[in-house]
Amino acid sequence: MAATILSGKEISAGVRGELKARVEVLKQQGVTPVLIMVRVGEDPASVSYMRQKEKTAAEVGVESETVVFPEDTPEATLLAKIDELNRDPAVHGILVQLPLPRHIDPRKVIEAIDPKKDVDCFHPVNVGKLLLGQPYLLPCTPHGVQQILLRSGYSPEGKHVVICGRSNINGKPLFAILIQKQAGANATVTVCHSRTPDLAHFTRQADILVVAIGRPRAITADMVREGAVVIDVGVNRIPDPSKRSGFRLVGDTDFDALVEKVEAITPVPGGGGPDDGDHADVEHGGGG
Ligand SMILES: NC(=O)c1ccc[n+]([C@@H]2O[C@H](COP(=O)([O-])OP(=O)(O)OC[C@H]3O[C@@H](n4cnc5c(N)ncnc54)[C@H](OP(=O)(O)O)[C@@H]3O)[C@@H](O)[C@H]2O)c1
Repeated sequence: MAATILSGKEISAGVRGELKARVEVLKQQGVTPVLIMVRVGEDPASVSYMRQKEKTAAEVGVESETVVFPEDTPEATLLAKIDELNRDPAVHGILVQLPLPRHIDPRKVIEAIDPKKDVDCFHPVNVGKLLLGQPYLLPCTPHGVQQILLRSGYSPEGKHVVICGRSNINGKPLFAILIQKQAGANATVTVCHSRTPDLAHFTRQADILVVAIGRPRAITADMVREGAVVIDVGVNRIPDPSKRSGFRLVGDTDFDALVEKVEAITPVPGGGGPDDGDHADVEHGGGG
């Protein structure tokens, strides 16, 4: 029987509705949340992602502004802007879009953001709190993966979750979320990476398989067990002459084959990541 398709689109619409209500309560208390997003340069993926974030902020009632610096902006100028935003009590959240131009050290930039305003949850203080089970702000994609599971009725509690990929954006924070002794987590988590010998040995043991490796369709049907739940975080461009753009987006799993075998799976696009329109025209920028 074909798998249940886990629609990230529907789930995110529900989440946005809830957020809108929460923002409304804040506004009634006299607080309008303000998010400042900063971009350096005109990377097309970043431009597209930020446009989407602006739209989402407006939809839920968050005031947002995008500050754009030219590509050759010195690191010191960016750090000075972050300092200004840190000190501004009217600014609640700061998001610096990655990737940054090569002459700017992303680590310095991330560490310059006030952890209380670090909406991406990239600052070491926030990463540490997440690992300790005391999250302050939650990282977007890993939190999204957890929400897809919970809101679709596939709680990770007591399950063996195998995560492919150990990046600071996806694999590691997802591990930190799902390993907690907390409701909605309590999973047994295995994290695999490029140095894992015999990846399939591990992926076949997964009740829930989360793949974030950036390799188009790398996880094939023989690598998953029947009845598994699969969350495909990957967003990859592959050539497609039938498209005006000349390419289309696919995930890290062989969706067409897996859909016949597993219990549930996220499609790409339309699962955990960007859906269509804007995002189908660009490569993923890593910021989610
Ligand atoms: N859906 C979303 O919202 C969203 C957000 C961010 C990213 N993404 C997408 O998710 C994918 C991963 O992004 P990322 O930023 O996490 O990537 P990344 O920083 O390149 O990390 C990739 C991870 O996968 C591992 N890996 C690579 N090839 C592998 C293989 N053949 N077998 C096992 N592990 C392998 C790497 O191992 P090593 O550590 O050993 O190198 C690394 O840990 C990309 O397609 C990206 O576009 C989606």
